[in-house]
Amino acid sequence: MPHTRSHLITIYKRLLRYVIPHWRVIPLALVGMVFVAASNAYIPFLMSQVIEALEDGGRAGGSLYIPLVLFLTFIVRGVADFGAVCSLSWLGRAVIHDLRADIFKHYTRLPTEFYDINPTGALVSKLTYNTEQVSEAISGVVVVSIRDSLTIAVLIGAMIYFSPLLSAMVAVAAPVVGWLIFLMSKAFRRYGLRIQTSMGDATRVTEEALAAHRIVKVFEGQKQQRNQFSEINERNRKQFMKLVVTRAAGDTLTQYTVTAAVTAMIAVAFSGLFIQGLDASVFIGFLTAMGMTLAPLKRIINVNAALQRGIAAGLTLFETIDEPAEPDFGTTTVNKVHGEIEFKDMSFAYKTSKGTVLSNINLLVSAGSSLAIVGRSGSGKSTLVGLLPRFYEVKSGQVCLDGLDIRDYQLKSLRRQISLVSQDVILFDDTIFNNIAYGALANASRSAVETAAEAAYVTEFANELPEGLDSRVGQRGALLSGGQRQRIAIARAILKDSPILILDEATSALDTQSEKKIQSALEKLMKGRTTLVIAHRLSTVEHVDRIIVLDEGVITEEGTHIELMSKKGIYSRLHESQFSD
Ligand SMILES: Nc1ncnc2c1ncn2[C@@H]1O[C@H](COP(=O)(O)OP(=O)(O)OP(=O)(O)O)[C@@H](O)[C@H]1O
Ligand SMILES: [Mg+2]
Repeated sequence: MPHTRSHLITIYKRLLRYVIPHWRVIPLALVGMVFVAASNAYIPFLMSQVIEALEDGGRAGGSLYIPLVLFLTFIVRGVADFGAVCSLSWLGRAVIHDLRADIFKHYTRLPTEFYDINPTGALVSKLTYNTEQVSEAISGVVVVSIRDSLTIAVLIGAMIYFSPLLSAMVAVAAPVVGWLIFLMSKAFRRYGLRIQTSMGDATRVTEEALAAHRIVKVFEGQKQQRNQFSEINERNRKQFMKLVVTRAAGDTLTQYTVTAAVTAMIAVAFSGLFIQGLDASVFIGFLTAMGMTLAPLKRIINVNAALQRGIAAGLTLFETIDEPAEPDFGTTTVNKVHGEIEFKDMSFAYKTSKGTVLSNINLLVSAGSSLAIVGRSGSGKSTLVGLLPRFYEVKSGQVCLDGLDIRDYQLKSLRRQISLVSQDVILFDDTIFNNIAYGALANASRSAVETAAEAAYVTEFANELPEGLDSRVGQRGALLSGGQRQRIAIARAILKDSPILILDEATSALDTQSEKKIQSALEKLMKGRTTLVIAHRLSTVEHVDRIIVLDEGVITEEGTHIELMSKKGIYSRLHESQFSD
């Protein structure tokens, strides 16, 4: 990834935009940090006074005055440091909070394609790990750079006060230190990016292994999963070590540079070549001031590592935030459509797959009628019905609802018209009740939810559970059977009471008896609604108004059950083979 200077500045600016709303804590922190710096600056003078007092044989009233001042200085310093650290940590956590809120919000409104391409684990890791890095950078950088550079500045002032000549000698080291810091920044950023990637990979692989734990067990995938993970784990360790080694080496080199300057200076002082009659108290004051710059200098260099990692984290975070949200430019809002659906010369291809999945679909489904879509696996049935709620955008042609292109509706308004029972039901880790009364349905009355649960035969199994409808379903509904999950999804669709109903293999996980029962419930539900039904079991679609057969993305047959049976085409062959079973 290129890090041009302007690119980096943009990142700084965007990070700053997260800091600005919380600016109020900054003055508080600043006051604290100024106190810390000032009390630091006072210590060399105190040391100088100690030497003076000692030389004077402990007279000059220094015997009590000095320890008392020293004690008070550290008390003030402690309070100031506490205030600074707390207020800046507050800032850091506030930034994390806001960043996470923004990212999560964005995660809920990205186009379906985005989720197809990006592994969930990597997205999770961005939300957890990357934001943490950014915050560490921000609070760390502010504390260290303000407090420590302030401290260094006043210490340099003290050094100059004690001896301008000695200060000038030490100053020679400054450009070398600056150059070292610059060199290390690049390395820190590079390793930071690699660590992030490996964190994302680790989350992804872990998530996969946990989700597929049954497959891992039966197909003996433990070793494969462990190897995959250990590779990533190792990469993470290595990159981290590189970062640490670079940081430590930078530390040591900086210390060497400063030490070289100091020893040179002491040698000069002892030689008496330039400095005649240098007072011991002045010399000690100077040395103390200089020695005290070492710790903050070290922190500045170390925080640079955090800063660069934070920038690297910000870089990928902002990339995600900049991903365009689902296109939603339609302005038409409707309360309830009639439900006439028309596909006009519509073709579609997924971005990730090369070929067209649906070609030249022309289809009119009149309001309130039902249409079954049958065809081989992979023929494009789910894709076709998924275009209606605009999970994906059609590539050419049009999909119209009540005669208006679905792109002209406000997305929210469009989706409000549609109920969906999808092929793979995923439930939320909540109660059965809340899974039925989900989202916009959350305000539904208890009795409405119970009626829907009854109609979808949810009550039948919920009553067996200790807490009935208020029993929890587990992660993704893991505590329930596939058929039970499906019934909850159907109850949710019944509760929504929308003019359009999409049933994609809605009863595939049910036994024939349960299917028959639910089928009659669904038939009642379908009355007066435009319904698109996908089913492999043809017995469940015989009663619909019209049936189309999809084959490799093309409509090959169309008609009522009786018409298609007499045609002796794909449909009748499929039907016969199912009934001869
Ligand atoms: N998210 C996706 N990204 C890329 N290609 C996809 C995606 N979903 C499906 N496809 C491809 O599109 C084609 C049609 O898939 P689709 O899910 O519509 O089939 P289907 O008729 O519903 O099959 P099934 O009866 O097995 O559910 C398949 O070749 C599939 O590989
Ligand atoms: Mg499908």
